[in-house]
Amino acid sequence: MTDCRIHPSILSADFANLEAELRRIHTADAVHVDVMDNHFVPNLTLGLPIVQRLQQVSDLPLDVHLMIEDVDRWGPGFAEAGAQSVTFHAEASNAPVKLARDLRSSGARAAMALRPATPIEPYLDMLPELDMVLIMTVEPGFGGQSFLDITLPKIRRTRAAIEGTGLPIALQVDGGISRDTILRAAEAGADVFVAGSAVYGADEPAAAIDTLRNVVTG
Ligand code: DX5
Ligand code: ZN
Repeated sequence: MTDCRIHPSILSADFANLEAELRRIHTADAVHVDVMDNHFVPNLTLGLPIVQRLQQVSDLPLDVHLMIEDVDRWGPGFAEAGAQSVTFHAEASNAPVKLARDLRSSGARAAMALRPATPIEPYLDMLPELDMVLIMTVEPGFGGQSFLDITLPKIRRTRAAIEGTGLPIALQVDGGISRDTILRAAEAGADVFVAGSAVYGADEPAAAIDTLRNVVTG
């Protein structure tokens, strides 16, 4: 069976009722938490205290996506909070190898994200330092944007490079994932899919997750 994990993004959830919103996605593999600082991206969401509380009340593992500057300083705190994975942006880190090692030694999976126009090639040698690569399929900052097909060649190249390492590195996509676009990303080599509006915009988020998974696994 094709590997396929669905991580709903709570960016599209009701921020006044996050604990209840987590229960609505019980069929998910993890919950994707978008942290934005209004510097790396032009939007502001939530920070470490809320992630710490989500960790306490969530039955699902936390997949924390940091869209922040100073990530070398802030990143390890999210790992110490108990997140399953912590994703930093390559464009925001001055020392990505050190940061990936710090995240792992703090108990989290280390993941690195690339904006749509950032190439993977400068980072190929550090793939063994990572547990997951996130290829952004929209410009980060907001939910509800359209999937960018220009990212598909990079997804293919990254998948090929991961295969070359022989390591179990996950390949995540984030942005514009829906029942109409998920198969394109999967066929290019993605195996972890973030979906915000496609899940929380549905009447039954848990069923929407199953629908997305079924599109990939048949
Ligand atoms: C955007 C965030 C995404 C966002 C995806 O910068 O990183 O996780 O929630 O939302 P959709 O699935 O609506 O594109
Ligand atoms: Zn995200």
